[in-house]
Amino acid sequence: MPSRSNASRVFHRALAHDYPEAVSGRGCWIYDAAGRAYLDASGGAAVSCLGHGDRRVAQAIRRQLDRLAYTHTSFFTTGVAEELADRLSAAAPGGPWRVFFVSGGSEATEAALKLARQIHVERGQASRDHFVSRHFSYHGNTLGALSVGGHAGRRKLYGPILSPNVRHIPPVYAYRHQQAGETAEAYGLRMARALADVVDEVGSDRVIAFIAETVVGATLGAVPATPGYFREIRSICDRHGVLLILDEVMCGMARCGSRFAFEQEGVVPDMITLAKGLGAGYQPIGALMVNERIVGELERGSGAFQHGHTYVGHAVACAAGLAVQEIIEQDGLVERVARTGGALAAILRERFGDHPHVGDIRGRGLMLAMELVEDRADKRPFPAAAKLWARVKATAMDEGLICYPSGGAADGTNGDHVLLAPPYTIGANEIEELVRRLGRALARALSGIA
Ligand SMILES: Cc1ncc(COP(=O)(O)O)c(C=O)c1O
Repeated sequence: MPSRSNASRVFHRALAHDYPEAVSGRGCWIYDAAGRAYLDASGGAAVSCLGHGDRRVAQAIRRQLDRLAYTHTSFFTTGVAEELADRLSAAAPGGPWRVFFVSGGSEATEAALKLARQIHVERGQASRDHFVSRHFSYHGNTLGALSVGGHAGRRKLYGPILSPNVRHIPPVYAYRHQQAGETAEAYGLRMARALADVVDEVGSDRVIAFIAETVVGATLGAVPATPGYFREIRSICDRHGVLLILDEVMCGMARCGSRFAFEQEGVVPDMITLAKGLGAGYQPIGALMVNERIVGELERGSGAFQHGHTYVGHAVACAAGLAVQEIIEQDGLVERVARTGGALAAILRERFGDHPHVGDIRGRGLMLAMELVEDRADKRPFPAAAKLWARVKATAMDEGLICYPSGGAADGTNGDHVLLAPPYTIGANEIEELVRRLGRALARALSGIA
């Protein structure tokens, strides 16, 4: 594998790792400097939803660059930011919405947490100083986002400097925690009640907001809620004046077969965070969508959101986001995701449904995952020391397949799953190729440990 790492001055996250040099991309494929082709079955980290090299997005970016690259939002607005906000607001049920554009998912989370606190203060409820979130969640890597995040491994090093004012409740994770004889609905209600219990414990005048991924992404691996769960969560939030923030950084923007994942849950949150599929990787862009009701309160109050960054509302990023949203609409990609996701799930079940080490195949739309276990009968995970997820990542890469395996889903330390989030444009032949390469990668990763 050609590598730049020995002489590299880039601070790569894995210091002893050899990275091939990516030089181009077209559709679902990325090519390295040696001419090797990689099938991008996870869009990196569920980002490249249009695939690579879409000339329409590149053109929109160039057009904006030719006009104006940057202006600070304390002086100006831009046409592309206005148009993108209009489109997102029109697409999201329960609006209208105002949209605060940032550079990625973590910034969107930070903005949501800070706005939620500000709103309560402006309502005269400054006593509200706690967030509630879920174990096994991920909302980003900045300190605020990591504080509400529930992935033990990602939090551990920074534990002493994270906010102590966060309470975590269990997620909905039916494969492992739905009890025998319990219906999916009853299980979901049981999990939702954990929110009511925590609010009672902390004090209903102390809780700012509840934040959750509508469909859990990287940490558990494409886990949707059970029917009724979010409706119950919404009603608990309403009862206690707690804001509901849904993190759709990974699962939104058509990834799950609807423009917003929460459309399938029958609820409307107070705030929505977006990133990844919003710009499809063509530009770094994220967004916080805030229900107009809340913005109205702010308007009648202090009249300003106190939080901000230099690159808020970046014109080139908004131009890219706008082009991506237009393409999703013009090319009928929401429907295509629902259709193609069903086909990919069916093929995964056909090929791996009886695999002795595939415990669960799950997900929505083109956000799918397989959970790997040592023993299917008792769902026992492989020990963390086997690093199965890292082995799968390496063998897949070697097979020319990019997927997104992670560890810790079973109990925070043990457990392995492989997340698949291919471009919405993936074709039938590429799905076949994906499954073939994944099968070979899995077999190689398991050999010697299974
Ligand atoms: C659900 C979720 N929220 C937030 C984030 C953070 O986004 P970013 O990495 O763009 O800061 C991620 C990233 O993977 C995510 O999956």
